[in-house]
Amino acid sequence: MSNSNKILITGGAGFIGSHVVRRFVTTYPDYQVFNLDALTYAGNLENLSDLEAFPNYTFVKGDITDSGFVEDLFIEHDFKGVIHLAAESHVDRSISDPMAFVMTNVVGTVNLLNAARRAWRNDIDKHLFYHISTDEVYGELHNPEELFLETTKYDPRSPYSASKASSDHFVRAYHNTYGMPVVISNCSNNYGPNHFPEKLIPLMIHNVLNDKPLPVYGKGENIRDWLFVEDHARAIDVIFHKGKNGETYNIGGHNEWKNIDLVKLLCKIMDEKLGREENTSEGLIQYVTDRAGHDLRYAIDATKLKKELGWVPSLQFSEGLTKTVEWYLSNTEWLNNVTSGAYKHYYEEMYDRR
Ligand code: NAD
Ligand code: TYD
Repeated sequence: MSNSNKILITGGAGFIGSHVVRRFVTTYPDYQVFNLDALTYAGNLENLSDLEAFPNYTFVKGDITDSGFVEDLFIEHDFKGVIHLAAESHVDRSISDPMAFVMTNVVGTVNLLNAARRAWRNDIDKHLFYHISTDEVYGELHNPEELFLETTKYDPRSPYSASKASSDHFVRAYHNTYGMPVVISNCSNNYGPNHFPEKLIPLMIHNVLNDKPLPVYGKGENIRDWLFVEDHARAIDVIFHKGKNGETYNIGGHNEWKNIDLVKLLCKIMDEKLGREENTSEGLIQYVTDRAGHDLRYAIDATKLKKELGWVPSLQFSEGLTKTVEWYLSNTEWLNNVTSGAYKHYYEEMYDRR
């Protein structure tokens, strides 16, 4: 690898990115960690306020769709590696505004690849472009025995997953065509602290706290495979340092839950934590119109990551979910801040539509 100690993490003010930035800044004092983030509705510097005093942490506000800005940044800093998380990440938003997903997820990724290629042209093999992707690129599963493997054919079915699949293809194309050293990981659904309250788990926590209905899409039969966000950050650390050039790694929790069962478990934990009578929160569940093109089931086989790089998830789901609920209960100010101001209008509009 290059002698530079500079690492660029994109999207570090978002949910997963903030946990990755914290892990790298606190575990590797010899790295200079740069967090590039446009601070969209999903990016929040409050997520990283504990890192402000760290001398090896720098925040850069900028948009990856701005090619000139991205190129200048790569020329100014000889980044040894890039961990690319910046993205539009919410499926429901991709249904109402697909172009924002094309811009950030596809154009933004290609801008980063171009800037890296130009800046690294004399010693490209000493660098690494690590692209963070999702299991949603593989489509949906129907056979209950089946799991997504690294070799599963891509079959994206939402504008979000189509944009992520496209970005994955560009990363592989730059590896094949220009010799760009790359790794890609495709992870299942994450949960944990700092998760923006429009995704399932934090939305339900927010609504229970505010005595609002809990909107379950369709019959609540859809299945997701949930992984605690710090386990994902640890997997990213392992893959960044030990992953093989050109390889793809699936990351997942072997932890499948039907949405309705997950929401009921969450309600039970919330009732206990809030000292409410049993089944109080469950009474808030409302079945609402299903998401258009709603993928039935996602489930990851993470055997390759376990066998080749020794990574396994560390937390049981009930433990991780309890930790998550406790975090939201002690961070009500964070929750109020992200659901107020400009975001409030969007949030209420989405909520009214359900
Ligand atoms: P998030 O929406 O919470 O955060 C995205 C971050 O990217 C925000 O800080 C936002 O400000 C920033 N960003 C958006 N557009 C930008 C732009 N044009 N320029 C610069 N910054 C921009 O997302 P997340 O849930 O933390 O997901 C991070 C990555 O992990 C994404 O690439 C996502 O596809 C992938 N992923 C997420 C999950 C999940 O369950 N959340 C699972 C697997 C993979
Ligand atoms: P989400 O957190 O949006 O993640 P993804 O769509 O990327 O898997 O949704 C997780 C599951 O929960 C998905 O099957 C859709 C469902 N869901 C609801 O039932 N109600 C909601 O209000 C939301 C946001 C999601």
